[in-house]
Amino acid sequence: MAPFVGPFVLVSLFSVAYAQDLSVPVTWGKFSNSRPLSERITISQNAINTILPQLNSATGEFNGIGYWQSGNVWSAMANQDHFTGQTTNQAQVVKNLNTVFNLRANYDQFGSMMMHYGGHRLQFMLIGHIRIRICYRMRLQLGTIQSSLLEFFVAHTYFQLSVVTASQASAGSQPNKNFAIAGSCDGATMAGGVFWRPTIDDQSINSITTGLYITTSAFLAEITGDSKYMNAAILSANWIKAHNINSSNIVLDTVNGHDCSRSLSTWLFTYNSGKYIEGLSVLADVTGDAQWRALMLNIVAAAVKSTAWQGSDGIITEGASTTSNNDSVGFKAIFIRGLYEAFARNPSNTNLRTLLHSYIDVQYNALLDLAANGSSYSSDWHGPPQVFTAWGQLAALDVLGSAIIANN
Ligand SMILES: *[C@@H]1O[C@H](CO)[C@@H](O)[C@H](O)[C@H]1NC(C)=O
Ligand SMILES: *[C@@H]1O[C@H](CO)[C@@H](O)[C@H](O)[C@H]1NC(C)=O
Ligand SMILES: *[C@@H]1O[C@H](CO)[C@@H](O)[C@H](O)[C@H]1NC(C)=O
Repeated sequence: MAPFVGPFVLVSLFSVAYAQDLSVPVTWGKFSNSRPLSERITISQNAINTILPQLNSATGEFNGIGYWQSGNVWSAMANQDHFTGQTTNQAQVVKNLNTVFNLRANYDQFGSMMMHYGGHRLQFMLIGHIRIRICYRMRLQLGTIQSSLLEFFVAHTYFQLSVVTASQASAGSQPNKNFAIAGSCDGATMAGGVFWRPTIDDQSINSITTGLYITTSAFLAEITGDSKYMNAAILSANWIKAHNINSSNIVLDTVNGHDCSRSLSTWLFTYNSGKYIEGLSVLADVTGDAQWRALMLNIVAAAVKSTAWQGSDGIITEGASTTSNNDSVGFKAIFIRGLYEAFARNPSNTNLRTLLHSYIDVQYNALLDLAANGSSYSSDWHGPPQVFTAWGQLAALDVLGSAIIANN
């Protein structure tokens, strides 16, 4: 018996089909696996246990990787508990985050010197911070939840020092910047853009910082129901939408907030798309506005197939740095985390779920088949296996954890 398909349904199917291609490329590498849940959990936890000996418990950071990268280890550990429904990592995460936050005003690596030395690390740290608070919010005692929320508000307030508001865009000035602000670029308002660094003369507004602000705001909107957070998330989501997505739906890096000049169009990094996907996934849920889910789908479809960071086998090549650490090694972990959020928040979109499951499994199988030496993983996901590096290990954690959920 043919299912009833009314005209309205046909129209929506059509527009979805035209909007983006969520099919799985036939050229991708191994895009499924049959490892049982218990094995996937063990693989992921063993990878965590393999980086833990690098912990410097005086600072809450790990030898061999930097401050924001260390934050992402804590984040992956919190997610591990979220994925398994257990509390294996909770005590470690809470203890060490408390250490970090007690050492760092505003969680900023450079404390009061941040004005000179890159306050953007605060935002990077928050990538971890946000995830950790969300993961634990259902399980911690009420008192702890409230103090977690308090930290969230502190973070949000700190971010707000760097956002261009609508009135600042109109006035052409921002209180924490010593130069004239471009109120609009290419005819679109600059309101909602977030400066990368709080440094008074730094003019860069970028997608990762704005994406982090969107995600922070959308999570706060979800937790508190306060529309001011939702409105902040919408304003900034509109900034990326208007200014920093190329016509192939890849999120670009930077726009100058003074003269509207742009970063090179070849400056393409996974985490810009990944963090926006994460923020839009939450924003779609808190607003109920279908445009954000549609935009998220377009960006997912483009990002998992972009030639900027993978070949036809689908295995991510970005940050394949086997002999030394650098920032780009950790970007792909943030990308995968954003994809996990899209996967988790769209249970009824079968095409999307199949695409994300396949993409995550391509990375998962690459790590296990090509890049693993026991429970140590190379940052080059094509391999070969090598001796343990803290940065390679960090980059693998989000894939190994996400594969717990993105498989049956
Ligand atoms: C957008 O970025 C992608 C990177 O994957 C690139 O291949 C494409 O040419 C870019 N499109 C435009 C119009 O710049
Ligand atoms: C980081 O390492 C990768 C892989 O070796 C390299 O392509 C990239 O240019 C490096 N980035 C920086 C900022 O050094
Ligand atoms: C695998 O790790 C062990 C232990 O660190 C090391 O001795 C060995 O050389 C590594 N194998 C490769 C292929 O690098």
